[in-house]
Amino acid sequence: MPDGLFVARNQWYVAAFRTELTTTPLERWILDQPVVFYRCSNGTPVALEGRCPHRGLPLSMGKLVGDDLQCRYHGVRFGPDGRCAHVPTQTMAPAACDLKAYPLLERGPWVWIWPGESSAAAEDMLPPLYEIGLEDPAFELCVEAYRQVSGRYMLLHDNLLDLSHLEYLHASGIGAEGAARVDERRTHGENWVCSERHQTETPCPPFFHAILNYSGAVDRRFGMTCHVPCLHAGFDDFTRARSDPDRPGESLGRIRVYHAITPGRRVETHYFFAAARDFARSNAALTQAMYAATEQTLSEDIAATEGIERLLRDLPSPPREVLLRADATCVQGRRLFEALMRGEAAGGD
Ligand SMILES: [Fe+2]
Repeated sequence: MPDGLFVARNQWYVAAFRTELTTTPLERWILDQPVVFYRCSNGTPVALEGRCPHRGLPLSMGKLVGDDLQCRYHGVRFGPDGRCAHVPTQTMAPAACDLKAYPLLERGPWVWIWPGESSAAAEDMLPPLYEIGLEDPAFELCVEAYRQVSGRYMLLHDNLLDLSHLEYLHASGIGAEGAARVDERRTHGENWVCSERHQTETPCPPFFHAILNYSGAVDRRFGMTCHVPCLHAGFDDFTRARSDPDRPGESLGRIRVYHAITPGRRVETHYFFAAARDFARSNAALTQAMYAATEQTLSEDIAATEGIERLLRDLPSPPREVLLRADATCVQGRRLFEALMRGEAAGGD
């Protein structure tokens, strides 16, 4: 990032899948800070600074006493609100021992964290979850996958902002032959950019042939909306081609994919992937096929990202970068990220 800017803090980021948080403390770095997560006995999720202010032990090494988190080192206890609740060796719990408690929201399959100023946290700054299928009952979530990536977070956004890589990096899996050459339609708003492609009268790609149980020609609408700074919401809608003699234009199935990208450390990124579909919802074999495709696709994207990061890390100075015509969406996306960061740096949010 230019000017040493790292990331916008006054935003919602996915911190975990809901299912990851339990009464066992979990450490996860968020935007260069260690955070400890757990659930209270009534299920409420908690996120606190992950380091004991007394002697600096990772609080994830501690345990819950009721709903309080007790440091494993000297037994200092903290409430779910971050307040220091108890110091075993003295009667007063000093306010200097209080921890930052992070605002959290549970929406979609995830727990979202607000790493910046707590007073600025506003639910309406989440991406439009219904619009992207996450709270739409027509769609059922069927895949959840978490990966930790050894690379800076913008590399993953660059990857998702240019789907012309599908045909090459994912050639043996979800790749769509000819997709890179289909005209891209781009739309954008204040904090999102969407890239959409239509393929008509095209052979059903092999992977989708299997899951849609259909081998004829299809019309396909697919693309991705990047909601800065965390979520890419992808859509892939298949209909029978207009030339279909029986039921032209009939929906074969709609798939939604979600890629939530959260910076952990400077060169370590959390990748939360989820997928939903609106067809064959009870078909377990299909769910398994989607998990297998996820595994392959994420492995390919992560190998590319970590390969790029390795070169960036070892080169003596920042290398030059050539931008191509296909990078228009990526450039627009990068500008949105930069605008958020510059806005914060200027105190304008
Ligand atoms: Fe990819």
